[in-house]
Amino acid sequence: MKQYKELSPSPRIIMTPGPVEADPRVLRAMSYPVLGQFDPEFTNLMNETMEMLRELFATSHEWAYPVDGTSRSGIEAVLVSLIEPGDKVLVPIYGRFGHLLVEIARRCGAKIVTMEQEWGKVFDVAEITEAIFTHRPKLVAIVHGETSTGRMQPLVGIGEACREIDALLVVDAVATIGGTAVETDEWLIDAIIGGTQKCLSVPSGLAPITYNKRAEIRLLRRKRIEQGLLDVDDLASYDNKSVPIQSNYLDISQLQDYWGPARLNHHTESTSMIYALREGLRVILQEGLEERYARHRRHEAALMVGLEAMGLQLFGDPTCKMPMVTCITIPSGIDGESVRSMLLEHFGIEISSSFGPLKGHIWRIGTMGYSCSKRNVLLTLGALESVLLWHGYVLPAGAALQATLKYYEEE
Ligand SMILES: Cc1ncc(COP(=O)(O)O)c(C=O)c1O
Repeated sequence: MKQYKELSPSPRIIMTPGPVEADPRVLRAMSYPVLGQFDPEFTNLMNETMEMLRELFATSHEWAYPVDGTSRSGIEAVLVSLIEPGDKVLVPIYGRFGHLLVEIARRCGAKIVTMEQEWGKVFDVAEITEAIFTHRPKLVAIVHGETSTGRMQPLVGIGEACREIDALLVVDAVATIGGTAVETDEWLIDAIIGGTQKCLSVPSGLAPITYNKRAEIRLLRRKRIEQGLLDVDDLASYDNKSVPIQSNYLDISQLQDYWGPARLNHHTESTSMIYALREGLRVILQEGLEERYARHRRHEAALMVGLEAMGLQLFGDPTCKMPMVTCITIPSGIDGESVRSMLLEHFGIEISSSFGPLKGHIWRIGTMGYSCSKRNVLLTLGALESVLLWHGYVLPAGAALQATLKYYEEE
């Protein structure tokens, strides 16, 4: 019989735009004994998780809870629950994850209208609001932080335009939540999705979402309770003109009854993952949101100082750069994939390439959550310099670390 070795993953310095290193306190939380999902001790943890999510999303919405699945399950849950077949949906695209929104909305039966921006830039808010007034969609879906290009779309003003024509605004904040301010209520966002494996430093597997009453009214029209749980009174409340939500697993109208006081049975909650999220959120709020955002800006700046001192060129419009993702143009003649594998093999450091038109043209370095530290920035710069030298890239040896040390010393 084949004998398998004991599991022993190598320690890594993960400097990608996700997943990143999990906070050790989160990993410890995941190893605690399992509680039953309706055990009052556990439902209390669920309520605390909801409270902390409201703080993280800067919202007073009643509904703030995680969907079980990776971030795209949160996106899909929101879109499939809010889009009825035939609804017009506007998606401004400025990278790979805008295309993902289109892909999911199309499968929900939406009539899609897109607008596209060159990868590496974002839209003027005025272009988006103009498109909203021209096309009058029922829903606008947009990415806040586009990890494929490292750009962040300003959102202020889009929510107002949506309200004027009674459209819902849905935002993918998977990569930005926990690393920079995301003002759900102030920016009039109706539904928003966060990611755990990026700036929250919780492993992948949950997708925190929050949505307001405007969104809830739309999805409750489509609510259908499962036959085996149904009460006769439930039938009376059905709006038979609406199309039921196509997904069962990702049906937010049922999920909110599970997360709310009704505690209606749906899926079997991954209680260990909720421990992880609760601990991750606790750690974030203990650090302080403003302090955490400042830490992301600080190490982003340090990283850029080092990369520029090495003679590397940063990719993309600097005025809309995400503070937690830095993109570098791969110098001509350098094999980007060989550099990445050498970093991983010899230094245990992981950085990313990109997708679509940027594949093979840029590297992406993440400074997210627990991975966003002085130690990681300095180690990454030192390792990158030596690997680039190995590949024959001519650079001022030692300059990157000296410049970055100076930055840290003079702060
Ligand atoms: C901006 C953005 N949206 C959505 C996703 C999809 O998330 P997941 O892979 O967790 O499903 C990602 C993942 O990298 C992302 O960066």
